This record gives sequence, structure tokens and C-alpha cells, in this order.
Amino acid sequence: MFFSRLLLLLTATTTAKYIVPGGRWRDTKGDLVNAHAGCVTVDRNGTFWLFGEYKIEGQTEGGGVSVYSSADLATWQPHGLALEPVAGHPYISPEMIIQRPKVVYSVEAKKYHMHWHADNSTYGLLLQGLATSDSIQGPYEFVSATAPLGNWSQDFGLFTDYKDGKSYALYSNGDKKEGRDVYLTAYDSSATNLKEVAHRFDKYDLEAPTIVQTDRSYYALMSHKTGYRPNNVVAFRADSLNGPWSQPWIVSPLNTRTYNSQSGYTLRIKGSKKTTYLYIGDQWDSNSLWESRYIWLPMTIDDRKKDLSVDWYDVYDLDVKTGEFTPIEGKTYYASDAEVAGSAFKQEANFASNGVIATGIYGNDSTITFSGIEGTGKEQWISFYYQDADDMGFGDQPGGTPDRFGGTWQLRRISSVVVNGNKQEVQTLFQRDTHKGIILSTPLLLKLDKGKQNTITVGGLYNGFDVKGADLDRIVVYPPEK
Ligand SMILES: *[C@@H]1O[C@H](CO)[C@@H](O)[C@H](O)[C@H]1NC(C)=O
Ligand SMILES: *[C@@H]1O[C@H](CO)[C@@H](O)[C@H](O)[C@H]1NC(C)=O
Ligand SMILES: *[C@@H]1O[C@H](CO)[C@@H](O)[C@H](O)[C@H]1NC(C)=O
Ligand SMILES: *[C@@H]1O[C@H](CO)[C@@H](O)[C@H](O)[C@H]1NC(C)=O
Repeated sequence: MFFSRLLLLLTATTTAKYIVPGGRWRDTKGDLVNAHAGCVTVDRNGTFWLFGEYKIEGQTEGGGVSVYSSADLATWQPHGLALEPVAGHPYISPEMIIQRPKVVYSVEAKKYHMHWHADNSTYGLLLQGLATSDSIQGPYEFVSATAPLGNWSQDFGLFTDYKDGKSYALYSNGDKKEGRDVYLTAYDSSATNLKEVAHRFDKYDLEAPTIVQTDRSYYALMSHKTGYRPNNVVAFRADSLNGPWSQPWIVSPLNTRTYNSQSGYTLRIKGSKKTTYLYIGDQWDSNSLWESRYIWLPMTIDDRKKDLSVDWYDVYDLDVKTGEFTPIEGKTYYASDAEVAGSAFKQEANFASNGVIATGIYGNDSTITFSGIEGTGKEQWISFYYQDADDMGFGDQPGGTPDRFGGTWQLRRISSVVVNGNKQEVQTLFQRDTHKGIILSTPLLLKLDKGKQNTITVGGLYNGFDVKGADLDRIVVYPPEK
């Protein structure tokens, strides 16, 4: 009796919630976390505040800026809109563009300052917006929309140097031939107006900029310009924000397109034992922007080698107090051991697990079934490793030759996932375009029965184009959150 109570107490205090890149993240009300291309600002109590673009079906721009709070970067409590669109307003009406919001505390003004890319729907204004609030969660009041030092401003980022507290804006100056640079410009001491250009990344034509700082270096991450299609994000390094900056390099394995994500923000988490640097990226879905996912991953930084990489983990546990993160171990089930039905079949693939990948997954009668899967009776994250070689347009390089499938490009296929033959509850698995021979994963939160007799059946669903599912390599079943 005594011991079981003690155990209950112990489990109640260790409420680990995992970070699962690319999953459907639910807030504490059960709704999808809706804060795209934003930032995470830490208040003086150590609470994390996530700000981002609010998008719903039928209103993917001009929806305002949403805000969530969290103590662990995994459990998100919604607080509605921090910046609400105002009908008829020249800069924040629902017809306007309110993109990539960033929030910083102005010690001098004793206010929180929100800056963003302010524009009209045809991106003809290229301004930076400012709104302020006395409290971090808002509501923020519009102050101005201005041209930074008289120039254009597109994708917006903000960086605060932890050594001297100075803030900087990062912005690309548009797509015109005279533009195509990325500016790094210092704010005045109150983080209100831009004062002085620290560096210009000349003619790289990059966007979605962010800077992460270590004790010795600054690393600037940016993506290429390929619209909502992901590409290989690059990083530059420097000892000083004024430069000289290094040549750029690609931060994740080639052809994964940064695990199907775009850069946008980074967070330095200095814990009692370790400092962890998080890549905070967006996995845009141009077919349904409001369902776009989040790719948050720890980065490996080696200042001696002057190198930074973004590493993939399906599921990890981040302790924001110690700064340590722990990749969660799962159990793997291979497609080579699974059963195929209909026209689905296993095909030789030297890049796949056991040299075999399951393909021809089509509609609901050409399926693959994994069996003997061990479950806990609680919801568990399960990662589906697949190849989707439709090869969307642009390939890796902006302007590169697309290797099209059926004359068009598709950002994703969709599979149906059925647990234990229960067709009443079909889960939709979005399988983003990878590349030929590149295997990536998408997680789903599924409830398996307790015991070792579970089956998971994967078929194809309509993605607006075809009813094909992607080729499957394996699934990995993770333990439930405590
Ligand atoms: C910190 O927490 C206290 C107590 O909950 C609260 O009154 C205060 O506003 C918080 N400070 C910030 C900066 O959020
Ligand atoms: C956006 O602003 C530009 C520059 O003023 C203008 O040419 C363009 O017509 C505007 N677009 C819309 C939809 O108002
Ligand atoms: C505006 O941008 C252009 C292109 O990068 C540059 O030549 C010009 O110096 C910039 N002007 C200012 C005031 O920064
Ligand atoms: C199987 O797919 C067909 C065609 O897409 C559809 O009409 C049918 O309802 C599906 N059956 C089940 C059991 O899902």
C-alpha cells in the first residue's frame, strides 16, 4: 500500500513529454498547435512563449499572431492571439501579410516588442511591423510598419546577443535583382528602430534567416528560396557579427532537404549540465498550409571544427532545466518481414533495410501489414520510415530541373493506417516527397492494445492526385510518455 502510493507520487512528478518533429502537435486543449514561422521567447521566469502565424483553412495569411506558453517546450498552453488582425487597418487587416513574428523584451522601454514582415498580399510593400505590449502574452498594439533604413524587407528574423543584450534584425531584401541579399542590422538600444548594418550577406538569395550563438561563434542559418518546397538549409559561421563570415555549408544529410523543413528560428537552452541548441523549423504543407508541422531538432555544434549540423531524432526528451536531451529508443519492425496484399510487393532496394522496400501500396486493397507489434494499451508515437520518390519540382536547387512524376510535382502522398483491422478509425499518414533512395520518417500517435499481438496495416489514400502510398521501409514503435 505504502509503496504503491510512493510509486504513484514518483510517476506523477516525472511528467516527461516528448518532442516529436513532424508529428501532429496538440495543445493542452487538444487542438493543433497553430503558430507557424515564429519564435520562442523566454520570459524572466524561464517560461517559454511560442509566437507564430495563425492559419486556418480559408485564411492562411493575415490571421494574426498566436501565442502559447510552456515550461518544458513540449506541453503548450494556448493564449489566443497576441496580435489580432484589425478589419480595415492599413497593415494588420486580414487582407495583409503578417509573417515571421519575433518578440523581444525591451529593457529600456519596459515593454515587449513584436517585429514581423509586414506586407500586402502581392508582397509589394516589403516592410517591418512593430507592435508592443506590457505583458509578454499581449495583446500587442500596432505601432508602425516601416522600411528598414529605407530598404526592402522580406523574410524576417531577430537575434539577441546574450553577451551584451543587443538585438539585431535579419531580413532578406526581396527577390528583385537589386535585392537578393540578407541584412543583419542592429537595433537601437530599445530594440525599436534599426540603426546600423552589421553585415550584408551579398547576393546569396537566401531567406528564413536565424542566428544561434555559442561562447565562441555565431552561426547564421538560412534556406534557399523555393517557395513552400523545402531545400537544403545552409549555415555560415563568424567570430563577430560584423564578420568576416565563412562560406555557407549544408547542415543536414544531402537530399533530405533538411528533413523536409525550412529554417526560421533557433533557441539556445543553457541548462545546469549542458547547453543544447535547438533548430526550430517549419515543415510547410502548401496543399493545406494550416496543417503545416514543426521540425524542432537539436543541433551539434563543434566550434573547434567550426561546424554545425542538424541531427534527426524521431522522438526525444528535452530537460530544459539540465539542458540535456535524450533520444528515446523504440522497437523496429521491418517491411521485409511484413505481409503484402493485392498489388503491393517487396522490391530490391540496396538503400533500404535488409535490401528490400515495400512498394505498390495503392488504395485500400494493396496494403502492407506489420504484425506481432508490442503495445502498451496507451497512446504511443510510431514512426513510419518511407521513400516518396515523386520528386517535386525544383529538385534541390532553386531553378534546378525538376524530375517530374506524371507531368506534375506533388509535395506529399497520403497513406491510411489501420490498427488491428479497425477500419472505423483510419489514421492519415502524410508522406512528404523525399528523393530517390532517401528514407525519412513521419510519426503518428496511435493506440495499440497491451501485448504483442497488434497489427498495423498501411494502404494508399487520395492526395488530390493519386491513391498511392509511399514505399515503406520500417516502422519504429516508441514507449508512451510518462
Ligand atoms: C513571473 O511569475 C510571476 C508569478 O506567477 C508573475 O507575477 C510575473 O508576471 C511573471 N513574470 C513574467 C516576466 O512573466
Ligand atoms: C501592394 O503594394 C504595391 C506597392 O505599393 C502595389 O503596387 C500593389 O498593387 C499592392 N498590392 C495590392 C494587392 O494592393
Ligand atoms: C538597399 O539595398 C541595396 C541592395 O542590397 C543596397 O545597394 C543599398 O545600399 C541599400 N540601402 C541601404 C540604405 O541600406
Ligand atoms: C476502398 O476504396 C474504394 C475506392 O477508393 C472505396 O470506394 C471504398 O469505400 C474503400 N473501402 C474501404 C473499406 O475503405
